[in-house]
Amino acid sequence: MQTHEIRERFTQHFVKAGHTEVPSASLILDDPTLLFVNAGMVPFKPYFLGQQTPPFPNGTATSIQKCVRTLDIEEVGITTRHNTFFQMAGNFSFGQYFKEGAITHAWGLLTDPVEKGGLGLDPERLWVTCYLDDDEAADIWHEVVGIPKERIQRLGMEDNYWSMGVPGPCGPCSEIYYDRGPEYGAEGGPIADDNRYMEIWNLVFMENERGEGTGKGDFEILGPLPKKNIDTGLGIERVACILQGVDNVYETDLLRPVIDVAETLTGARYGAEHEDDIRFRVIADHSRTGMMLILDGVTPGNEGRGYILRRLLRRIIRSARLLGAQGPTMEKFMSTIMDTMTPSFPEIEKNRERILRVAVTEERAFLRTLESGTELFENAASEVRSAHGTRISGDRAFALHDTYGFPIDLTVEMAREAGLEVDIEGFDALMAEQRARAKADNKAKKHGHQDLSVFREFIDEHPTEFVGYEELQATSRVLGLVRDGQRISEARPGEQVDVIVDVSPMYAEAGGQLGDRGSFVLDGVSLPVEDVQKIGKKLWIHKTRIPEGAGLEVGATVESHVDEAWRHAARQAHSATHLIHGALRQVLGPTAVQAGSMNKPGYLRFDFNYTEQLTPEQLQQIEEITNSVVDADHQVNTTEMPLEEAKAMGAMALFGENYGDLVRVVEIAGPFSLELCGGTHVAHSSQIGPVAVLGESSVGSGVRRIEAYSGLDSFRYLSKERALAEGLASSLKTPSEDLPERISQLAAKLKAAEKQIADLHRQQLSAQLGGLVEKAQQVGEFSVIAEQLPAGTAAGDLRTAALDLRGRCGEKAAVIVLGAKDEKGKAPFVVAATPAAVDKGVRSGDLVKVLGEYVSGRGGGKPDMAQGSGSAPEGLAEGFRAIIEDLRSRS
Ligand code: ALA
Repeated sequence: MQTHEIRERFTQHFVKAGHTEVPSASLILDDPTLLFVNAGMVPFKPYFLGQQTPPFPNGTATSIQKCVRTLDIEEVGITTRHNTFFQMAGNFSFGQYFKEGAITHAWGLLTDPVEKGGLGLDPERLWVTCYLDDDEAADIWHEVVGIPKERIQRLGMEDNYWSMGVPGPCGPCSEIYYDRGPEYGAEGGPIADDNRYMEIWNLVFMENERGEGTGKGDFEILGPLPKKNIDTGLGIERVACILQGVDNVYETDLLRPVIDVAETLTGARYGAEHEDDIRFRVIADHSRTGMMLILDGVTPGNEGRGYILRRLLRRIIRSARLLGAQGPTMEKFMSTIMDTMTPSFPEIEKNRERILRVAVTEERAFLRTLESGTELFENAASEVRSAHGTRISGDRAFALHDTYGFPIDLTVEMAREAGLEVDIEGFDALMAEQRARAKADNKAKKHGHQDLSVFREFIDEHPTEFVGYEELQATSRVLGLVRDGQRISEARPGEQVDVIVDVSPMYAEAGGQLGDRGSFVLDGVSLPVEDVQKIGKKLWIHKTRIPEGAGLEVGATVESHVDEAWRHAARQAHSATHLIHGALRQVLGPTAVQAGSMNKPGYLRFDFNYTEQLTPEQLQQIEEITNSVVDADHQVNTTEMPLEEAKAMGAMALFGENYGDLVRVVEIAGPFSLELCGGTHVAHSSQIGPVAVLGESSVGSGVRRIEAYSGLDSFRYLSKERALAEGLASSLKTPSEDLPERISQLAAKLKAAEKQIADLHRQQLSAQLGGLVEKAQQVGEFSVIAEQLPAGTAAGDLRTAALDLRGRCGEKAAVIVLGAKDEKGKAPFVVAATPAAVDKGVRSGDLVKVLGEYVSGRGGGKPDMAQGSGSAPEGLAEGFRAIIEDLRSRS
């Protein structure tokens, strides 16, 4: 049975039973605790926690959610069942049916015959596990479903108590396993062998809320959820593996075609060698995950989501090369996986070109990295060899990995080929340090998350009513005060508090727009609001400072005011952001997809996917189009509608919207700018005022940033530029339009003059050198020239002079020692020795060390030539004497 059909059967089974079909949410949701959606229940979290009422007529839903888990990326291809991307099919009950309903629904779908819409699995091959003391579930399995007791096993917290790994809903669970037969492992059920007995479905009886903790088994249970719920997850890929009779999840109809393509491209054969098979599976698995991440708007980068994508793509390239691929391979892998995935995810079609472009660009960059990394590796290797070592240090290997994205296995392999080894322990220690730092960061983040629990009650009972699209002031009642994460009933002068009110006109930061500034006025005293943030999309937190002589109590009634000047400029900036986006797409084409944005009064920046630097002409066009849309005075229309309707209209959504959400569509100049946006906007485009583009830059591979000023800030910026040009024109006595030419003339003149000075300097030096040879003194068996050259002589010139003098000394055993005070007041110095002197044991590298001690400096080099620099030129003469003494003592 094809994977697509398994999906259909799942959905139909639950739709028939009254569940609302909910499309998969994006892999990227607005949840600070998750990089990617990693379970089917994630988009439903607020319903489980009771923060929001589920919008499903029967209180039940079903979905097939895209999931990404990259924690055990190293396991991919080694075990038979680890996919970094998978589809989790689930049915959800919010306070409706509980254990018995979940168990019988699952059993029905799995064992109903194919003709009746089921999956037709043999009931004799199914085993289940229950949580240790969950007799209720075990009884249902035995008595209602009829599974013999010996096929019902018990496991503890680690296995049969499910949570998201972070604070949130949780509960005991019951898992269903399929026995793949004796060829896959030992008898004895899932507790004996989880390869032979493959887990296919997890039924979670979601009834509690967990707190902080580590790992799967060690956390505190805070208490029961408002209702008893069901959350289940069936692994579509695993069921496909079973129903298609293949050995592992990499050989199903969705992934096997990628392995086939990889065979053709690399010349290696799947099934011939274990190590190679792992590489084939990595290619298939990662191609799909990479493609799905790009589909949802991720671009390769150096941190967070972007880094994971980069790592996946690089592992594909690396695996293909190890299998024998010579040139690029990414395009073929991506095209193949897009073909197999499109029937279930038709939106791939529209994004084909973009996905290919992102993946292929990353491949090109990595192939370049491999090239330059190889050079760095060669340097490291030759250093090791010239020091007669055999081992590349952990530092070096780490630098290659960290800075150049060079995987350690590559470094090890190249070292092996070069007859060297790598200090793996040293490398591992540095990696562990880096991980510890990342962990500490994560911990800090989670902490921030936990503090939010004090707001829970408000989110449930008093979500903030936002009236700020129409009003700039409102009468509000203070519902709560929070200071340092604790609820308080009264705030005193000098304190910084989070204020929660019933009705607020102030915009809370979202969608790239910063929160409003404003004030609460109480008894004629104004309490400044310095920022407004949103929690759980529902609750407005006003960061407020209590001034001297004032106070604020829960229950007080205040007048809330938005700072009008702030809002005016914030609107201008946000509407300008939309226009810049529209103009960008007009100039660069529809593949310039938004990757992020930020705007605040007077300023905006907009990040977008694009691989090339924009030309000055393109920037100018963007600015021109933007300002002409401003000038055309279009009405700005905002409409609320369901997400699906907005998408059908062609409105652009970044990501993070949920099914069922009512979204706000902002339209300026018809199709020119149509975006899902909750921000505040001007009423007419002319109110934006001038928009001045500051420039563009790169923010990571394949993402560029454009920055601009809006409104009065544009004017100020342009006026400052004008003043600057005028100032330059008057000091250069040139009309401003001639400035560019005049300045380049001046620069050329200056360069020529500098060259002339340097030439003169060198001539002078060389004239002196003849004299220096005459001045050579005999020290024992050496002829020594030790001389301080005129102030201002640079290190490079000292070196040239020393080489010249050494040449002039010919066959003599001569040592040349030169130093000077350079332009920066430092003391560069050089020692050179003729071959005859080296034969007699002179080591210039040692002599510069002697000199270094007298000028507070250091140096090093080879026996025939060494140099260094110090910070105390006044010690040079003394240092020369020390070298002469050193040479004398040898004779
Ligand atoms: N939420 C459960 C899981 O991810 C179904 O296993």
